[in-house]
Amino acid sequence: MRNGILILDFGSQYTQLIARKIRELRFYAEIHPYNFPVKEIKNQQPAGIILSGGPHSVYEKNAPSVNKEIFSLNIPILGICYGLQLITHLLGGKVNSSKNREYGAALLKIQTESVFFNNINEKTRVWMSHGDKVIKLPAGFKAIAQTDSSPYAAVINIEKKITGVQFHPEVQHTNNGKTFLKNFCISFCHLKPNWTMKNFAKEKIKEIQNQTGNERVLLGLSGGVDSTVTAKILHDAIGKRLSCVYVDNGLMRKDETEAVIKRFKNNFHIPLHVVKAEKSFLSSLKGVTDPEKKRKIIGRVFLEEFKKKAEEIGHHEYLGQGTLYTDVIESVSVKGPSDTIKSHHNRVAEVQKLIKAGKVIEPLKELFKDEVRRLGLTLKIPRELLFRHPFPGPGLAIRILGEITKERLNLLREADAILLDELKKTGYYKKIWQAFVVLLPVKSVGVMGDNRTYENAVAVRMVESKDGMTADFAKVPHAILGKISNRIINEVSGINRVVYDISSKPPATIEWE
Ligand code: XMP
Repeated sequence: MRNGILILDFGSQYTQLIARKIRELRFYAEIHPYNFPVKEIKNQQPAGIILSGGPHSVYEKNAPSVNKEIFSLNIPILGICYGLQLITHLLGGKVNSSKNREYGAALLKIQTESVFFNNINEKTRVWMSHGDKVIKLPAGFKAIAQTDSSPYAAVINIEKKITGVQFHPEVQHTNNGKTFLKNFCISFCHLKPNWTMKNFAKEKIKEIQNQTGNERVLLGLSGGVDSTVTAKILHDAIGKRLSCVYVDNGLMRKDETEAVIKRFKNNFHIPLHVVKAEKSFLSSLKGVTDPEKKRKIIGRVFLEEFKKKAEEIGHHEYLGQGTLYTDVIESVSVKGPSDTIKSHHNRVAEVQKLIKAGKVIEPLKELFKDEVRRLGLTLKIPRELLFRHPFPGPGLAIRILGEITKERLNLLREADAILLDELKKTGYYKKIWQAFVVLLPVKSVGVMGDNRTYENAVAVRMVESKDGMTADFAKVPHAILGKISNRIINEVSGINRVVYDISSKPPATIEWE
C-alpha cells in the first residue's frame, strides 16, 4: 500500500468514515478485514494501524480478534471503541461486559497532556456508542482522559506506541474528532499530509504509462462521473492508445447522448465509438415489466453490444473500468444494495478472469466518490458534470413502471427535463442528492379547457441524502413544486397529473423499481 494508515475493520458502521476522515486530512488510509494476515501487514509497512469499532463483545464466542503479534511490530496503533476493548483484552486488562449501551454525547475531560490532544480543549464533547467498557488497563497503559461513565475514555502506552479511545473520533458529533485523528497521524505515525488529488493524478498517469507500455486500452463509457474521470486520466496518460465505447441504449435522459458525444469530441478531444443500440434494447425489453428482469436484460444487451463493437475496432490488451474504492473494499461492514449492484457490474465472471490476468486497469479503484470528483477537477473536467446527481445504470427503464416503449420514454424525458430545468434555475439542484420523475402505470381523469382528459400520472421524487443508503424527501418550497407541476402538465402532452413522493428511505427506496 501507499504510505499511510491501515484500518482493520471489525464491522462498525463507521469504518468507512474513519478512512474518509483521514483522507480528508490528506493522509492515505486503506481498509482491510480484521483478519488480514500479520504477514501482509508486515509486507505493507503501514505508518500506523487503526482497529475499528464493531458490534461485538470481546467475550463473545468467535469474537473477531487480531494476532497479538501486531502489538510488537513497532507500528503505532489506535483502537477505537471495540478496538480499544480488544487491545485491553489481548494485553491483559479487563473489559466489563454490559447489556446497557451508552449512546450519545459525553463530555471528555483530559487528565494528562499528550500529543494526542494537541489543539484540543481540556473539556470537549465526544460521541459514545458502546455497551462493554474497559475497567482495568493492561500493564504499561495509563488513562489520559475520562468521561462520567468511562474512566478509561482515552488511554495510552507511550513506549509501545499504542493508544485507544472509547469514543468515536470519526463521527461528526465528536467536536474535535478530526484533530484527534490528525494528531495520531502526525505525532504518532509521523505522516505528512500529501494525499492530494494533484499528486495522485501525477503518480497514476505514470503508473498507467508503465503498465500499458505500447498497448491499447478499451473503456466502456456511460458519460457519468466515474467513467468520464476514468476516460480523462487514461487519455492524459496514453492518448490515442485509449478507445472509448459509448453504448446508446435509448434509455438516457433528454439530449444526454448528444451531450456526451459533444463533450468528448469538442471539450476533451477524445474520440468516441458510439453504438446506436436503442432498437436492440427496446426490442429485448418489449413486454417486460418486472424490474429485476429489466436490469438483467439491460446488462446482457449492453455486454453483447459492447463486445460486438470491441471486436470491430480490433485488439486491445487492456480493459479500463471506473470501479471505485467502495466497490472493492473487502469489508465486513454491511454494504448497501446499490454497492452490491455496482460491484456486480464491474466484477462479472469474465472481468474477474481478466483481473486475475492483470488485464484490467481501474485508475479510481483507491478513491472514494468525493475524491473522484476532486480528481476530476484537477483533470479540468467541468464542475457541472462532476457534481451531477447520481443516475442509475439501467437509466429511465427503472423509472417507467410497467412496459417500456419509445413513446413512454419520450414522455418521461420531457417531464424530467422540466424538473431539472426548474431545479437548476432555483438553485435547488445543488441542495439535493437526487431528483427525477417516475412515469406511473396509472391514468387519471383531468380537465383541459373545455375537454375532459384521461392521461398519464407522474411522480416527482426529490431526496436529501449523504450516500444514498438512507434518504428523506426534500423539503422543496410549495411554490417551486407548483411551478414544476404546472409546467409538466402544460408542456408535456400526455401527462395531466403530478404527485410528489414524500416517502423516506427506509422503508421506501430512492428509485421506484
Ligand atoms: P435505491 O433505489 O436502492 O437507490 O434507494 C440508491 C441509489 O442507487 C441508485 N440505483 C442504481 N444505480 N444501477 C445503478 O447503477 C441500479 O440498478 C440502481 N438502482 C438504484 C439510485 O439511483 C440511488 O442513487
